[in-house]
Amino acid sequence: APGNRFEAENATISQGVVESNHAGFTGSGFVNYTNVTGSYVEFTVNAAQAGNVPLTFRFANGTTVNRPMDITVNGVLASDELAFPGTGAWPNWTTTSMTVPLNAGANTIRATATTANGGPNLDHLALPG
Ligand code: GCU
Repeated sequence: APGNRFEAENATISQGVVESNHAGFTGSGFVNYTNVTGSYVEFTVNAAQAGNVPLTFRFANGTTVNRPMDITVNGVLASDELAFPGTGAWPNWTTTSMTVPLNAGANTIRATATTANGGPNLDHLALPG
């Protein structure tokens, strides 16, 4: 994959479906979160060494309402209600980034919707390298 990209459609999905009906995604599609609180996508990311790493989420939100998500790393809350604001239309993709501490080895990164609207459409998670 280009850079160090983890496609949402290949991640663990709880209450969401893989779709490809809005253009511009990377990989083979994106995850359409079910419109409920608690829907999530969970990635497993390996880090060569422990340290702080920027996470970049690529998403689309064709509504005008923010769809915040809690970001947990290895079960610990790393970002409380990270904003995933409207992007104007469903085929309009953008990114939001945050820096988190990773352990050496496998890390679990989960993005969980915190409102009844569910999450945005999630394309991928990118790490440096
Ligand atoms: C529309 C859109 C989906 C999106 C959904 C939503 O149905 O086509 O891609 O996920 O709205 O509001 O979550």
